[in-house]
Amino acid sequence: MSFEQWLTQSKPVIPVIVIGELSQAVPLAQALVAGGVRLLEVTMRTSVALAAIEKIAKEVPDAIIGVGTVTKAEHIQQANDAGAQFALSPGISEKLVTKSQDLALPFMPGVMTPADIIKGIEFGLQDFKFYPAEQAGGVNMLKAFAGPFENIRFCPTGGISEHNFKNYLALNNVMAVGGSWLCPRNLLQTGDWSAIEILAKQC
Ligand code: 3PG
Repeated sequence: MSFEQWLTQSKPVIPVIVIGELSQAVPLAQALVAGGVRLLEVTMRTSVALAAIEKIAKEVPDAIIGVGTVTKAEHIQQANDAGAQFALSPGISEKLVTKSQDLALPFMPGVMTPADIIKGIEFGLQDFKFYPAEQAGGVNMLKAFAGPFENIRFCPTGGISEHNFKNYLALNNVMAVGGSWLCPRNLLQTGDWSAIEILAKQC
């Protein structure tokens, strides 16, 4: 499957998830899926990230589970072994792209400049994370990219929230947006899954 195909089955919003406790993984994924948000990015920012990916892959079949904050090729291998269906990184490197291609794992590297995008095109990629979106020029930067990079699609993340995500989704070269606003730390800590489901439903 590709991001394009998955996005026909999910809202075009990818929550950036930081799992502190393994017990949060399944109820959180269930709440997001119940809200129509199926593509989930569990970031490699905590020690339980891989275990969380494995649990969600096994126990929440309607979730399309991916790994985020990939900064080393071994993260891609480990997440793939744990059952991740895609990978995202804040940046782009030959090692990351090659590893994902060896595993045939859909991968969106992060880009911020035309040079980054050209590097990805040289690897045959069309889909990129634009990171950090707000800090790197936001909607106007993506409009500027639309000229020279006609067939390239972006998933902006970084500084996106319920207040500005629609401005991004209105752009032709944006296929989805990502962000942590759908999984606020306080709701995760208190286990308020119904509030997270409502946030997912609202977007
Ligand atoms: C990411 O990894 O995509 C970002 O950390 C998400 O940024 P946000 O917390 O501003 O949504």
